[in-house]
Order: sequence, then structure tokens, then C-alpha cells
Amino acid sequence: MSSPLHRRAHQSLVRRFAEARRRSPQDGETVSGHHNSNVIMPVGRPLALLLGMPSGEVLAKFRTPLPAIEVVPRLWRHESQVLRVVGERLSEVPKCLADFGDWSLHSYLTGRALADVVREGERIGRRRLSVLADFFARLADIPESVLPPVPADWPGSGDSHGFLGRLAQFTEQRVHQSNRPRFGSLFDAVGIPSDAVDRYRDSVQTLAARPFALLHTDVHRSNVLVTPGRDGENLVVIDWELALYGDPLHDLATHLVRMEYDSKERGVMIGMWASAMRRTGHADMTVELKRDLRTYLGFEYVQSLYPDVMRAALELPDEPARRHVVRAAERVCRALRRASGPLGLGPDRLPQEREVREALLDWHAKDMIRRMEWPDAGEEAERLETPVVGPLVGPVAAGRERWDRARLVERARRSENARSTAAPAHREPTGVGS
Ligand SMILES: Nc1ncnc2c1ncn2[C@@H]1O[C@H](COP(=O)(O)OP(=O)(O)O)[C@@H](O)[C@H]1O
Ligand SMILES: [Mg+2]
Repeated sequence: MSSPLHRRAHQSLVRRFAEARRRSPQDGETVSGHHNSNVIMPVGRPLALLLGMPSGEVLAKFRTPLPAIEVVPRLWRHESQVLRVVGERLSEVPKCLADFGDWSLHSYLTGRALADVVREGERIGRRRLSVLADFFARLADIPESVLPPVPADWPGSGDSHGFLGRLAQFTEQRVHQSNRPRFGSLFDAVGIPSDAVDRYRDSVQTLAARPFALLHTDVHRSNVLVTPGRDGENLVVIDWELALYGDPLHDLATHLVRMEYDSKERGVMIGMWASAMRRTGHADMTVELKRDLRTYLGFEYVQSLYPDVMRAALELPDEPARRHVVRAAERVCRALRRASGPLGLGPDRLPQEREVREALLDWHAKDMIRRMEWPDAGEEAERLETPVVGPLVGPVAAGRERWDRARLVERARRSENARSTAAPAHREPTGVGS
């Protein structure tokens, strides 16, 4: 672009045509994760011309953030900042074609999510494990100097313990405490100790110093695309908005947990990750691997308690059937079981599934009544927290509607009825922490 004036005029044209295109989502296919609604559709001729694309038929991803509960820290405001750096070094990531601040346009890579190629619980195989291990090693190669700037008080390279402390502080303040007004009674009723994060922090040994690197922090089966490649397939990691600068062991831990590997593939992945790091000159990132990985895995289980419980509750429909409540309770119990080791909770401190069902239904009914009394509460929550754990669905989305009192009372009553069929008579919730 020849001058700033031309550049601005060009950007404003791109925005105009992109907005117009985005208003026709029926021309594309919508795919959503926890944070964004993505419409995949042809860019159209005007945008193709403006962006220098060969034809209007080229597909792009019109990516719009969904209102969601914030559950992990965001270091960089714009995903495009990270994509630029990563794109220059790992060619196989989507390009950000335009960042409009409140939404963005990404190149579309033809492929299928790994989650659709390999079902949950199935092994992904050695070749793919090795490609992913190499991916982490290539991230570690990216020098700090080319990364977008980090806040002055962000822990410096090697301060692994400070980094974990920062993550834990975020979980306690921004995830646990911020959400207590709405979800505190539920957290307590399902037995999450009120001092869970402190408890966890007090129990861990000081971490060894490891050099920091760019971390993706969310490499799971839905964020890995299988695309056609020279020797069969490529694996492309998408969705970089939660990227951090920090201890590489944190990236490995979130990956191991969120990929849902079985114990065999988990072990293979750890070995391959360590070899890839050593082979590429990053042996110092593997110091105290075994001990400190356990610490980060523990943190992942502890921090995910809050989003798992909130998501389970939010995903209950307005009038939950028994199967909805059972599924939600299973999810909560699984999260509690996984966090029980790191939190030092014995089996006698874990609630029965029946008690969790009860707690969820209690919360659900009270939340509906709360929104009946403060009809704007849903919108308020939305304004408070952008972005979040997941789309505001079920009761929260309902908060956006204009509720009529009688309708809500009726729903709350039906919810009570569902409760009486979901579980025997109410007992005092158990497992409430110290
Ligand atoms: N290029 C693509 N090809 C195939 N599926 C895609 C592509 N981009 C996104 N998806 C699907 O859409 C989902 C959401 O996209 P993603 O960028 O991860 O958004 P979110 O931030 O909401 O998780 C992905 O998990 C994947 O299943
Ligand atoms: Mg995603």
C-alpha cells in the first residue's frame, strides 16, 4: 500500500465487504468451539480482489467471538499478533487475513478436525504423536524477541514457579472468585474446597527453572486439523487465541489432559516430547520433567474444576430431563475425581453422583428464580466476562430474553419436578471443603 491514507481506505473497504459477507451466514457452514462462531464461506469477488486472492470462491473463516466465561488468562489481545509470528515460522497455520478488532477473517485450511478423524478415546497413533512432539519443539525454537510484547510484570524466562503462581492467581481471582456470586453455592455443594487453589499451591514444591517459550496451551483434538499433505497428511494446529509465553511444561500438561490420551499414548507422547526438545537444543526445557509435569498436570485438573462445573450447569436446558442431569453430574464427578489427588481429598470427601445431581438441580432452580428477580442478570454476566468458558447456553442465554415472571415460576416448578424424579429426597450436601 503506497501511503497511510491508501492503507486506511483499503482497510475500510475490506471491512465493509467483509461485514456484508458476514451478514450472509446462510452461504456458509458454521462451526463453533467454546470461544468463537466460525462461518466458513467463499470470500466473494470484491474481497478476493482487495485481499489479492485468486478467486471469490476461495473459502475463508469469518471468526466472531462468542460471549463466554473467562477461564484462562489471555496474554495477547489479538490472535492475529500470534498468528503472524507463528505463520512466519510454522507455515502450516491459518493466516489472519484481516483483524477488525471485534472479529477477524482467517484463511481456511481444507481439512478435518482430528476429533472427527479419530474418535474420543481412540489412539491417534505413533506418527501423529511424533508430528505433535515436533510441533512443540518448533514452538520452542521461536525466539522471545519476535513475540508480541508481554506486560512488564509477566514472569520472566526461567521463573517457572512465578509462572505457575500467575496461572493459579488467575484461576482463584478471575475464575473462582469472579464467578462465586452466581456459582459459589454450586461449587460448595459439589464439594470443591473453598480454598482449593491455595491448598494446591501450598502443596507443590518450588518448580525448577526452565527457559520460557511460546505456548499454545490448548492443543486438543478439535484444535488440530488433518489436512492433505505430501506423505498422506499434515497436522495443523489452529485456534491460537489462548497462547502464552511461559514454561513449556504447561503446554505439554494441557495437551496431555485435553487430548484424552490413554495411559500408553500419554507415556509415548511424554517421551517423544522430551526427545524432540533435546534433539532441537532445548534440553534445558526438560529439566525435572517427571516431577514438574506432575505439578502442572495437577494444576490442570484443579483449574478445570471451575469451568467443568460451570459448563455442566450452564448446559442444562431450561427444563432438564433426567438424562441431562445425569450427564451433567457425571461430568462434575469426573472433574472432582481428577482434582482429588492434587487437592489431597480422600474418597470420603467426594460426593456421590446422586448428591451432585441434587446440587445441580438446586442451583438450576435458584438460578432461574434469581434471573426472574434480576431479569438483566444474564446480560450483566455477559458484559462482565468476555470471553468465557463457552457459549452462554441454556439458562444463561435465556437470560437475554425478556422473561415473564409467570413463565419462569412455571419453569422453576418443572425443574423441581425433574429433581424429584432424578434423585431421592434431599440430604445435606456432602464433601464441602474446609
Ligand atoms: N479449517 C478448518 N477445517 C475444518 N474444521 C475447522 C476448520 N477451522 C475450524 N474448524 C472446526 O471448527 C471448530 C472451531 O474452530 P476454532 O478455530 O477452534 O474456534 P474456537 O475458538 O471457537 O474453538 C474447530 O474445533 C474445528 O472442529
Ligand atoms: Mg477451538
